[in-house]
Amino acid sequence: MSQTAQLLEQARSAVEGAVALDELDAVRVKYLGRKGLLTIQLKELGKLPADDRPAAGQAVNEAKQVLTEVIRQRQAALEEQKIQETLSAESLDVSLAGRGIPYGSLHPVTRTVRRMQQIFSHAGFEVHTGPEIEDEFHNFTALNIPENHPARAMHDTFYLESGLLLRTHTSPVQIRAMQQHGVPIRLIAPGRAFRCDSDMTHTPMFNQIEVLAVDRGISFANLKSFLYEFLSKFFERDVELRFRPSYFPFTEPSAEVDVLSESGKWLEILGCGMVHPNVLEGVGVDPEEFTGYALGFGVERLAMLRYGIDDLRLFFENDLRFLDQFS
Ligand code: PHE
Repeated sequence: MSQTAQLLEQARSAVEGAVALDELDAVRVKYLGRKGLLTIQLKELGKLPADDRPAAGQAVNEAKQVLTEVIRQRQAALEEQKIQETLSAESLDVSLAGRGIPYGSLHPVTRTVRRMQQIFSHAGFEVHTGPEIEDEFHNFTALNIPENHPARAMHDTFYLESGLLLRTHTSPVQIRAMQQHGVPIRLIAPGRAFRCDSDMTHTPMFNQIEVLAVDRGISFANLKSFLYEFLSKFFERDVELRFRPSYFPFTEPSAEVDVLSESGKWLEILGCGMVHPNVLEGVGVDPEEFTGYALGFGVERLAMLRYGIDDLRLFFENDLRFLDQFS
């Protein structure tokens, strides 16, 4: 076999063996490049005897043509293969089963607040809010708790350096709302309250929902019937309540209300009473014409009852195994 034919055979098998475009290009350079093996053969034709040159030249040229064509075909095949690989790598099997998206869930306290808001809004109560950083006037004075009154000490207040404080209850929203909107008024004010107090059943931050209804002719009977109705809706059963006489400076008379849990225990869930005449006068409302009731729910307490949770701290640890149960 002539040297040319041998080179061509070598080149062919190199082309077949090339599995990537860059390998193929290396083969092309090796045989057909400027210093390629076949190219050199052409250049060296001059060393042959004159009679042999035409045949040898033709053979080399033919070999070059054949090889060029072989390379072109191999290149086309490799390119096609590459496209197919890309397509199949990027293809989606839409028939595969989904992996499932883990959903978050609302915190049980949030769920409880929303549930309460929904019941209240059906009864015509509007949602109001107020600042968590309050002044002494709204948190105490306007609520009939004058300076140096012992009731201020009951509140374990977090005072700030500015002289402001973290509100100890949501009752200051009563004052702000009546100052701004006057009466008659029916509002609820969900929000956080803070007390320097921490044990099994108290956390320094907790949630309250304040309720205020002021209008002509509102009596304690309205408050009681309202509470029975609201709590029966909330718990989806007929509730048993216990009204214990109590004291709040901003209501008179005042009561604390316990609800009988399904496990037979009484749990305190709110404080309430008839808005004190001093509070109404303070916001420019005539207590001879208007009366009202106010109450403050402990949201975590209600959530504990509703979901059968016995430790308040579970709400604040944010253990996902606990929270996931509410999704
Ligand atoms: N603000 C009282 C508390 O936090 C609750 C309350 C609200 C009592 C409204 C009476 C009326 O303890």
